[in-house]
Amino acid sequence: MQNTLLGSNFFAAMYLVATVLFIFGLKGLSSPKTALRGNAFSMMGMAIAVGVTLLNPEVRTYTWIVAGLAAGAVVGITVALKIQMTAMPQLVAALHSFVGLSAVLVAAGTYYTHGAAGESDPVLMTEIAAGSFIGAITFTGSLIAFAKLQEIMGSAPLVFRGQHWLNLALGVAMLAFGGHFIASHSMVSFWIMTGIAFLLGFLLVLPIGGADMPVVVSMLNSYSGWAAAATGFTLSNNLLITTGALVGSSGAILSYIMCKAMNRSFISVILGGFGAEASAATQAGPGKAIKSASPEDVAFMLGNSSKVIIVPGYGMAVAQAQHAIKEVFEILHEKGVECKFAIHPVAGRMPGHMNVLLAESDIPYDVVFEMEEINGEFSSTDVVLVIGANDVVNPDAKTNKSSPLYGMPILDCYKSKQIFVSKRSMKPGYAGVDNALFYYDNCTLVFGDAKATCEKLANALREE
Ligand code: TAP
Repeated sequence: MQNTLLGSNFFAAMYLVATVLFIFGLKGLSSPKTALRGNAFSMMGMAIAVGVTLLNPEVRTYTWIVAGLAAGAVVGITVALKIQMTAMPQLVAALHSFVGLSAVLVAAGTYYTHGAAGESDPVLMTEIAAGSFIGAITFTGSLIAFAKLQEIMGSAPLVFRGQHWLNLALGVAMLAFGGHFIASHSMVSFWIMTGIAFLLGFLLVLPIGGADMPVVVSMLNSYSGWAAAATGFTLSNNLLITTGALVGSSGAILSYIMCKAMNRSFISVILGGFGAEASAATQAGPGKAIKSASPEDVAFMLGNSSKVIIVPGYGMAVAQAQHAIKEVFEILHEKGVECKFAIHPVAGRMPGHMNVLLAESDIPYDVVFEMEEINGEFSSTDVVLVIGANDVVNPDAKTNKSSPLYGMPILDCYKSKQIFVSKRSMKPGYAGVDNALFYYDNCTLVFGDAKATCEKLANALREE
């Protein structure tokens, strides 16, 4: 029962304010220009949500809550201070796993409080079942995503014969035990259903290869939202329902956008890499000739061009080369060279990764273009400077049916007159495949750390 001083209208009104702030927050995150403001709105919404929930008279003791908040705050603050920007996706995957596990624990706790005590409300039992199996799939799926992103596991797809039929059979069995649990409140059925869901989470994400991980992370984001919404139903908490639905639906929309950007089928990714084959990647090229050049050679070419496109990738983030790149951009601009940036939707390790880094170094938004806006311009470009990008410029994605990247749209750098690629070695990118671009006649590699390379480029350009 709601407190009479702070009536139920107070809680409803404050939850509504928090929900509206979350919506403004999400809207703000749709552009780098408004992202900071969006984050501020979301933080205000969360502060209101937590504060108001603590005032709820149904909270009978604060001991466990304070202990939980303190432990969570210590872990959260430590991780947030230490985490590298490049490790954000695995952190997000780990956080999704917490949401999933807490949904399972809330469902189990509610079952032992109500169901096992003989209450038989079928609606409550359905909420418990849904919260538990969605949470369990999210938990183990996120653990595998974390292991792949953290490179504890290889990023190659793990496929075996009959995998999809096994997943289908497990899905049907999980729903059957869930149905039996709702009808009978059997504890055994509850735990068998939950156990199958844990297994299914593993099996759904295992076959998804490195190149498709961005979609998986956003899909798990969506699952974690639905798990939270199911928990909201179980706890009769409207804010958790609306927030969970916001996360669930925005995650689903993001997954759809990523699938479109990568030319992947949404359904096949949701079903766990349906259609993924153990494919033969382009083999690293012993015997294939590559060309390499020094930053000074590149500076000469850049300074004598009329149009340059810079393609940043994950290596720019690793090297933190964005400020040095800005210098190169400014010098070229001063020299009258038209210089633009081309961003692939999955460059880096999280959506908008490159945009955030370029914005951090104050590169003007109007010279930064998305793939579909700029792809038509490569054929009229003198020099493309690829800074730590690899998979997103690999022409095998267009031409080699056995490549795991096949079908993913790429930045069409290979069409330009000359390409320079800054990287440290011949190691492949995230998808673990060799890059056909490096062996093209118009491609030259510039070996070394991207930041050092860009600093040398800027110095050489200034001296010209
Ligand atoms: P990648 O294909 O991962 O290639 C990065 C390149 O950067 C590597 O070839 C690496 O070569 C180079 N590099 C690393 N550190 C460097 C440094 N300090 N200096 C210079 N070069 C450095 O990157 P990409 O082209 O941006 O593609 C992104 C990949 O990640 C895609 O496969 C995508 O599917 C996947 N992914 C994306 C996301 C999102 S949402 N964006 C999330 C998860 C996975 P060396 O080691 O030889 O230097």
